[in-house]
Amino acid sequence: MNGLKGSIKVPGDKSISHRAVMFGAIANGTTEITGFLQGEDCLSTVACMKELGVFIREEGEKMVIESNGIDGLKEPRRVLDVGNSGTTIRLLSGILASLPFSSVLVGDDSIAKRPMARVTGPLKMMNAFIDGRENGQFTPLFIRGGNLKRVHYISPVASAQVKSSILLAGLGAKGKTKVTEPYRSRDHTERMLQSFGVKVTVDEDSVTIEGGQQLQGTKVQVPGDISSAAFLLVAGALVNNSAISLIDVGINPTRTGILDVLKEMGAELTITNEKNFGKEPVGTLNIKTSELRGITIGGEIIPRLIDEIPAIAVLATQAKGTTIIKDAEELKVKETNRIDTMVNQLKELGANIEATDDGMKIIGPTPLRGGQLVDSFGDHRIGMSMALCGLIADKPITVKNTESISISYPSFFSDLNDLT
Ligand code: S3P
Repeated sequence: MNGLKGSIKVPGDKSISHRAVMFGAIANGTTEITGFLQGEDCLSTVACMKELGVFIREEGEKMVIESNGIDGLKEPRRVLDVGNSGTTIRLLSGILASLPFSSVLVGDDSIAKRPMARVTGPLKMMNAFIDGRENGQFTPLFIRGGNLKRVHYISPVASAQVKSSILLAGLGAKGKTKVTEPYRSRDHTERMLQSFGVKVTVDEDSVTIEGGQQLQGTKVQVPGDISSAAFLLVAGALVNNSAISLIDVGINPTRTGILDVLKEMGAELTITNEKNFGKEPVGTLNIKTSELRGITIGGEIIPRLIDEIPAIAVLATQAKGTTIIKDAEELKVKETNRIDTMVNQLKELGANIEATDDGMKIIGPTPLRGGQLVDSFGDHRIGMSMALCGLIADKPITVKNTESISISYPSFFSDLNDLT
């Protein structure tokens, strides 16, 4: 493959799109979302909120939500199906924990394996009644909420889903709810709640919210998803004779670990045209084919690039020297065990890569052997990472189960084609 060239507007940010719909659904009045990600996960959030009685319609490019506030939500007649979406189930559990009715949450086979105790535990501490498989650790979850009490939750994991779930429940509790994390996770909830008129106090490692505050409907402009852009950045850095620009991508500092890593590895990367979409910073990311070197990635940067590690693993196979990714155990509880799915498949393709207890070790550069069949295993980010391997291998690579890519980046292949 030779030469990716041109500019692309990557689709809307998944994390921000979920929150815009959920917050609009519990806000008083009208919320208008532009740049909403029409990916399967965010559509699962829309379907769940509709099932809870919220009025949501598409008006051209806009998603419009009309709500009478959180008390307007109604007990659902059917189970709430979150599909493949961890963000939907974990944030929605926080909302449902404060509502005095029963709901049942289910998802697909991947969701059924993912740990829910990290949210059901603290929500039970706040007084919500929650049950589920293995004592509320796994789906299906049953929630009957209401009468919540405040909590100061010291989370063992840096997780925006856990933090957001507790903060949303905290809105329905009396007094101040506080969440402390080992490292700061993405802060879209904190920023967007403020756009909806809620006061949130942010300290270095903690966020505090006072219960009883009402959200007011607003306009949300969703930035491009840096986690989707990451695949094109890696492609741009690795494919010979490339120079690409990605327009209006979110560059919130809690998400830009991938940019720090690319720069440290030696990539020719610049950011231009910086501005704000509401409280979220955006910019154009420009990258060219680059000579890369191996680095060590661990500690506070991990939550800032957790979703980009599969793409970084592909990048590291082509970098000179050793790349070590550590402190990344969370990869084991994503849509797949992303340490195993990446290491096993990259090894098959000829990479010098080993799994470790908390990440992986990659020695490069090694040419990747094409002519092979790989699998997304139903994980969108594994599917896109494997497609990247196809761009740099000596022969084409066939990726099975690519439909999963529509979870977060439905136009991935057409965007790649536009750059060739
Ligand atoms: C997300 C948070 C991250 C991330 C996920 C989306 C969010 O998960 O991996 O894709 O929107 O809050 P954790 O919060 O569990 O780390």
